[in-house]
Amino acid sequence: MQDRKTLRREMRARRRALTPQQQRTAGRCLARNLARQLWFAKARHVAIYLPNDGEIDTRPLITLCRTLGKTLYLPVLHPIRHNRLWFTPYATTTRMQLNRYRILEPVLQGKPVRPAVALDLVLLPLVAFSADGGRMGMGGGYYDRTFAFRLKGNGMRGPKLVGLAHELQRVNQLPIERWDVPLDAIATDSRVYAINC
Ligand SMILES: Nc1ncnc2c1ncn2[C@@H]1O[C@H](COP(=O)(O)OP(=O)(O)OP(=O)(O)O)[C@@H](O)[C@H]1O
Ligand SMILES: [Mg+2]
Repeated sequence: MQDRKTLRREMRARRRALTPQQQRTAGRCLARNLARQLWFAKARHVAIYLPNDGEIDTRPLITLCRTLGKTLYLPVLHPIRHNRLWFTPYATTTRMQLNRYRILEPVLQGKPVRPAVALDLVLLPLVAFSADGGRMGMGGGYYDRTFAFRLKGNGMRGPKLVGLAHELQRVNQLPIERWDVPLDAIATDSRVYAINC
C-alpha cells in the first residue's frame, strides 16, 4: 500500500490528465448513475461542490438537481470554527467569490447557512476511494472535521455522505486514519458503490 502523500499526488495527476471531452462525458454519466438511486430521488437538501483540479464535473448533476426541484448548497470555509465547512444555498443568482484556495464559493454576507446535520445528502469530492467507503481527500481534513460527529458513536448520522469520483480514482486499499469519516456510497462515471444506502 502506498503512503498517503504519494497516492494523493498520483491520483490527482491521473484525474487532471483527463481531456475536456472525457470530463464532459464523465459528468453526464455520473448524473445518469445518480438519477437511478432512490436515496438521490428522495433527498431535498443537497450539498454539492464545483469541480476543481480535475474532479469529476458536477455541472450536469447541478442542472438535474435544479430540474428536480432540490435545494442545492455549496461548502464554504467556516469563518469562526476553524477548518470546518458550512453549507450555504446555491441558486443561479448566487454571488460568488474565490476563497483562499482559489475555489469559487458563495459570498456569505447575510446568507442563511445550514449546519451539516440539517442536510439530506452531501456529495463530496475526493482524490481516491475504496469500494468499501474509504475516502481520501485533498489533505485539509475539512470534510473529516465537519462530519467527525459520525464517528462518536452517539448514533447521530446526519446526511448521507456520497463521494463523487472518476472510476480511475478507485484503489483496492486505502491508508485510512482514525479521523477519516467513511462514505455511505461512491458514485462514479461507471457505477454506484453502495455501502450504507
Ligand atoms: N476530526 C478531526 N479533528 C481534528 N483534526 C482532524 C480531524 N479530522 C482530520 N483532522 C486533521 O486534518 C488533517 C488532514 O486529514 P486528512 O489527511 O484525512 O484529510 P482529507 O480527508 O484528505 O481532507 P478533506 O476531509 O478536507 O477532504 C490531518 O492531519 C488530521 O490530523
Ligand atoms: Mg481524511
